[in-house]
Amino acid sequence: MNKFTFSYPTKVYFGEGSAAQALEAELGRVGKTVMLAYGGGSIKKNGVYDEMKALLERAGKKVVDFDRIMSNPTYTKVQEGAALARGQHVDFILAVGGGSVIDCCKVISAQAMLDEDIWNMEYVKGKFPTAGIPMGAVVTASGTGAEMNAGAVITYEEKIWKGPIFGIAASFAVLDPAYTMSVPPMQVLSGAFDTLSHAMETYLGNSDQDNVSDDVALAIMRNTVVNMRRLLENIDDCQARSNLMWDSAMAENGILKCGRLTDFQAHQIEHQLGAYTDCNHGQGLAVIHPAYYRHIVKDAPDKFSRFAKVVFGVDTAEEGVDALENFIKECGLPTKMSQLKSTVEITPEVLRQVADTCNIIKCNPRELSRDEIYEILMECL
Ligand code: NZQ
Ligand code: ZN
Repeated sequence: MNKFTFSYPTKVYFGEGSAAQALEAELGRVGKTVMLAYGGGSIKKNGVYDEMKALLERAGKKVVDFDRIMSNPTYTKVQEGAALARGQHVDFILAVGGGSVIDCCKVISAQAMLDEDIWNMEYVKGKFPTAGIPMGAVVTASGTGAEMNAGAVITYEEKIWKGPIFGIAASFAVLDPAYTMSVPPMQVLSGAFDTLSHAMETYLGNSDQDNVSDDVALAIMRNTVVNMRRLLENIDDCQARSNLMWDSAMAENGILKCGRLTDFQAHQIEHQLGAYTDCNHGQGLAVIHPAYYRHIVKDAPDKFSRFAKVVFGVDTAEEGVDALENFIKECGLPTKMSQLKSTVEITPEVLRQVADTCNIIKCNPRELSRDEIYEILMECL
């Protein structure tokens, strides 16, 4: 094991009725004005908005709405939220949504307390936030695990860049699988594939020692595949959604990363693909993963064959990659760029730009050149 420090900043309330339990327990500790932050309106249709608002009002809070946080949240939206939080003297942020809402709020929380631009602070000065407006997260669409970490993924439109910005982690998270029941089936599977990707990307980091984290990562992968298959049988299987919700949190709360290096090259490519196309995160990953793994399978043969056996019950490393691709097809997730919903036509020129601007990871099985990333992307066209 490599040296590490580990702590959980986020208290988790899991299961039916946990929002009421969490808000009753936590709201006494926070000030009067609460920003209720959400996305494009799904929580108004499924009743979660009314439930949250009633719980906040019952606790005597003044509620300030911040809505229309888009999928792949933008830097402009972060600044809009931070300005509102400052202007309204917000004491607490309640983020209610999927990864996009939670990520946007984690950075709003930090930006609202800073007198400088957070992107500049992190990317130019190399400084990271240490304080923010306290926040809680109510997860309505699982997959990213954003509710249990401080990192956010934000699209900076002017720079045509999508990447990490560190914000402030939620002090508590509500994970009630019932809230995910209205998520459209394709989003449920895309989110779950994101979870699978997080565990695969962590496991495939270039760690040359036996590591208990690898065993945990493989268990999360296997459980995610099993429960995605249960959803293919019955999309309303609440037990399967419960397992996936906890898989999602486990995959990105840092526990799998203890004592090891991580890969995350597929994520770096997908994030830049997202910057150019605004595509769905989990679906972009589904397209990229098999092509990327075919390129690196010979660089980590033992890891890939263990993955093949444990997750898909097949013998060889190469069969494992084929099984992953077949599983993506079985789920009805996209396997080609042309199947992604995109704001622009995905041409070789766009893919060249993605390859030329994405981050390159150095602790994966083999560091890729920009030309090889372009080759991988072209194989997905
Ligand atoms: O906006 P609304 O109307 O709420 O609709 C959303 C959105 O259209 C809908 N939805 C959410 N809950 C629902 C629901 N629809 C019906 N019923 C409900 N209960 O789902 C759609 C997708 O939501 P979104 O939050 O965009 O999806 P996801 O959770 O997959 O988050 C994606 C974002 O997270 C980032 C991604 O890059 C992307 O920007 N990630 C964040 C990570 C992190 N912080 O650790 C790690 C990930 O690797 C990822 O990069
Ligand atoms: Zn992801």
